[in-house]
Amino acid sequence: MCRQVPRMVGLGIAILSLVWSTSTRAANETEIAEHLIELVNIGRTVVLEHQATINDAAKADKGFTGEFMADEVMERFKKKTKIDLRIPNVVPHANTYVAMLEAEREVVDEAQPVINRQGVGFKGFLHAVFARRVGEHFYQKTGARMKLTGIDYRNSRSKPDDFELEVLRMFSDQRHPKGQVYARNTMVDGRPVLRVMDPEYAAVSCLSCHGVPKGERDITGMKKEGWKEGEFAGAISLVLPLK
Ligand code: HEC
Repeated sequence: MCRQVPRMVGLGIAILSLVWSTSTRAANETEIAEHLIELVNIGRTVVLEHQATINDAAKADKGFTGEFMADEVMERFKKKTKIDLRIPNVVPHANTYVAMLEAEREVVDEAQPVINRQGVGFKGFLHAVFARRVGEHFYQKTGARMKLTGIDYRNSRSKPDDFELEVLRMFSDQRHPKGQVYARNTMVDGRPVLRVMDPEYAAVSCLSCHGVPKGERDITGMKKEGWKEGEFAGAISLVLPLK
């Protein structure tokens, strides 16, 4: 028995260091995920802020270009995180962040003919459509999935999967600390992934489309959800494959 003790201690240390290294790695990956979500949400905010310009039927060239988007995203991201994507070679995990940034640039560039179309007001280019297309571009570049989702989703492509629905329900519970991100290591299609979901809440700027009266048509022609300021709205969901 005695001879086994050192071995068991050794094993204990091995297990401890394994737990330690996976948890620090998970912390690291969670931070990457949160930064990626930040990048998407900044882009969505930029779209929301420019919705009136985008919808302007009188103006042709709106200057709402991919370059404009990329500049805004880099600037605001730097303010929030101190990470400067203009000098990516000194940024850890810059490739992933730049992939998201480029996805945002490309989506706005591709939408130029729509955004600059004269004589049309609402053109269907809005935050959620932007987010969905960015998710598609980001997936092509990285194999990581990002989507905007909600319990009462409007578009079938935003439909939550089982995991997302469970977390959305948890977020919508009053007992969930407001704004707290949910992260879990799990398997998707037999591969280890980190899943992160970041809840969001209705701001005043959301209510013209998602507010009251419930069921009334918004500018997009869809039915309003009846949200009030501060209410749980939905979440960004990220699935990051682990190496
Ligand atoms: C100009 C109208 C408009 C505004 C303003 C707006 N949304 Fe949306 N939102 C939409 C539309 C339209 C969709 C569905 C579009 C699609 O997926 O094709 C949507 C989708 C969403 C979704 C995805 C789930 C779903 O319902 O499909 C969430 C979450 C969401 N919006 C949250 C917000 C939040 C939070 C704000 C404010 C910060 C906001 N929206 C502002 C029009 C708007």
